[in-house]
Amino acid sequence: MTTPFPPTFLWGGATAANQIEGAYDQDGKGLSVQDVLPRGIFGPRTDAPTPDNLKLQAIDFYHRYEDDLELLAAMGLRTFRFSVAWSRIFPHGDDAEPNEAGLAFYDRVVDTCLRLGMEPLVTISHYETPLALADKHDGWRSREMVDLYVRYARTLVERYRGRVKYWLTFNEINSLFHAPFMSAGIATPKDELTEADLYQAAHHELVASALATQVIHEVDPDAQVGCMVLAMPVYPLTPAPDDVVAAMHADHRNLFYGDVHVRGRYPGYVLRDLRERGIELDITDADREALTHTVDFVSFSYYMSICETAAPVEAGEGNIMGGVPNPHLPASEWGWQIDPQGLRVVLNQFWDRWQKPLFIVENGLGARDELVEVDGRLTVVDDYRIAYLRDHLVQVAEAVADGVEVMGYTPWGCIDLVSASTAQMSKRYGFVHVDRDDDGTGTLTRRTKASYDWYRQVIATDGASL
Ligand code: BG6
Repeated sequence: MTTPFPPTFLWGGATAANQIEGAYDQDGKGLSVQDVLPRGIFGPRTDAPTPDNLKLQAIDFYHRYEDDLELLAAMGLRTFRFSVAWSRIFPHGDDAEPNEAGLAFYDRVVDTCLRLGMEPLVTISHYETPLALADKHDGWRSREMVDLYVRYARTLVERYRGRVKYWLTFNEINSLFHAPFMSAGIATPKDELTEADLYQAAHHELVASALATQVIHEVDPDAQVGCMVLAMPVYPLTPAPDDVVAAMHADHRNLFYGDVHVRGRYPGYVLRDLRERGIELDITDADREALTHTVDFVSFSYYMSICETAAPVEAGEGNIMGGVPNPHLPASEWGWQIDPQGLRVVLNQFWDRWQKPLFIVENGLGARDELVEVDGRLTVVDDYRIAYLRDHLVQVAEAVADGVEVMGYTPWGCIDLVSASTAQMSKRYGFVHVDRDDDGTGTLTRRTKASYDWYRQVIATDGASL
């Protein structure tokens, strides 16, 4: 096809510290919430790290980052998304001084990316709140978190100024209501939290995100800051107006976060919801002023769309953010429904709504892979992954042709990593296979898959080979 992708398009790949680094207690790193979540989002937390927690070693990127980045750069990536582990920089979140060994590690990662021609795309907080802050403050329920986070963000931008152009404040900020401990370090069990507690925690994150945006702009005027939301277009299950309105409400619950980040104030539909539920948030004048520091772009993950209905039905398996399954769509082995056109829908919706450049910073298929021998070497023939990514990229191309400004595309888990929701190795997303199993065994050897050669070709032709 003739390509609509501009030559500046940031083709890349995405990861998060807790899912790749390992070295959970090395060089001064403190514990994060992930170190006590051996079963992922919905499993119970443990009191201390346990040997069955795959993230403690993950794929050992901490020691292998240089080879891994070389392998990814050889695919042609122009950007690499990673997160900084907050507890590597401030082991308890509120330490007097940052941990120099942690800062130095990310110096090396950033410099290696730049040497290899990849722009670092850095998430400041990706489901990795220092555990000490969860235990001491109940995470983002506390207003104390705002200053601690902003100081952490300032430490990062002062250190990496001029080297990191793209910052994301909170990964999937709208997941806070669904996974309060993983997403926001809230130690109180979910069933003991009220809507008011969660709204207040979200408010603290929104203020912190805006203040971090202000600080980054001040310290490095050339840097750009994006919010990061879990995008999930909501379709009415039927054309019944009640279903259409139910879908609108569900959509609002997600759009709220982007609306605040882009418009700098709370939207009317949230103010109404708060009023009708009798929730009075603690929002100060200083908070209102802080929120006016809006983002430069909107980034998002996209894995699935959902349906909504006004009728009382059970949420479908795999629809982790609620909603009901769409009878027209297939699903992955983990029940995540596959809807390439939903990506075009969401790109158009966000662009029409916000008129801000959009960055797709996660998308991909979690699947079980099998190593096979081809031409005397072990590899994975992952045609299913290629088909998934191609179908989604064709829809991105459609959106670009629709006039949507898309900055780039960084498929999730470009190198196999530990899954977030289920904490498994066997739910793989990568172009690069990592030899590790769910029981923790494996040599950690890296091997390229068929999708590696395919994506390299896509990038080399700027999408024309799609
Ligand atoms: C996103 C997260 O929700 O989805 C990632 O930002 C996560 O951290 C990704 O890994 C895929 O989810 P999972 O559960 O398959 O790893």
